[in-house]
Amino acid sequence: MDDIGDLPRFELTRLDAPGAADDGADVVAGLGAPRKSLPCRYFYDARGSELFERICATPEYYPTRTERAILEACAGDIAEATGAAELVELGSGSARKTRLLLEAYSARAPEVHFAPIDVSGDMLVESARELIAHYDDLTIRGIAGTYEDALAALHPAPDDRRMFLFLGSTIGNFTDDERGAFLARIRAAMAPGDFFLLGFDRVKDAGILHAAYNDAEGATAAFNRNILAHLNARFHGDFRPGRFRHVALWNGYESRIEIYLESDRAQAARLDDLDLDASFEAGERIHTEISRKFEPDALAAELARLGFARRAEWTDACGWFSLMLFGRGEAA
Ligand code: AVI
Repeated sequence: MDDIGDLPRFELTRLDAPGAADDGADVVAGLGAPRKSLPCRYFYDARGSELFERICATPEYYPTRTERAILEACAGDIAEATGAAELVELGSGSARKTRLLLEAYSARAPEVHFAPIDVSGDMLVESARELIAHYDDLTIRGIAGTYEDALAALHPAPDDRRMFLFLGSTIGNFTDDERGAFLARIRAAMAPGDFFLLGFDRVKDAGILHAAYNDAEGATAAFNRNILAHLNARFHGDFRPGRFRHVALWNGYESRIEIYLESDRAQAARLDDLDLDASFEAGERIHTEISRKFEPDALAAELARLGFARRAEWTDACGWFSLMLFGRGEAA
């Protein structure tokens, strides 16, 4: 456990083994497949995180601001529904939206416990610095590592009760199999009386969805192309991101936005550190991300099969985004 000397009420457990998951085997597999793909985790270098912030500020990209508006309106009701609980946030990042919940819990209890989990230990320290300075009654026990490792390494709940949080509609970026495995891990970590709050984006008009991933200023296009710049920096490569077009399509059959980079000509690229040569035909696509949208009842039924019981749901006036609260149901 790291002791961050100048930061009171904060502990950090580092489970991350830097480099272990970063050997690029997933890049070699993705670009070597007949239908090329790249894992969406490569979007998030420093530039990619900045570009994601830019996306969130575009008029077309509604999910972040809609979820925030729901939390602004309903954080008190959420705290009321669960009672005092340690907040365990998966993929907390800067924990900006979580503040609304921390405030609501702090209004109800003398002490608030927050356990953020993120792959980036540096990000955890940075956000803890701001939160500790801001809230006198907050204690933070951060865990840097994968969700799987961190859930297995959780300390006993200080309040006897926990609420696991997975916000931001990141659940939509998982494949069906990944989503099932991730939810099963959360269910396994839940004790009787614990809660799980899930933020997800809902199926809606195709035009609204299409615009959200094809913003006029090109923030999403820049974010998508940055994945290649990131690979160049990470693996000494010579991709030319400007020679790939951003393509984002709504696939209504699969209820998901599909994002690709489309080669604008026949070309080749090399990643030296991976000894990887990839060639592209004009118009050939690299699949970079899915963003699944859900019907609330169908998602609740899927979670019921995994042993969760729906307790409450909060949404916005347009019904575009939901926060759904689950308790432990019958184990499957
Ligand atoms: C992080 N995630 C929830 C975003 C989404 O909407 O699926 C990522 C994103 N990709 C393009 N725009 C936003």
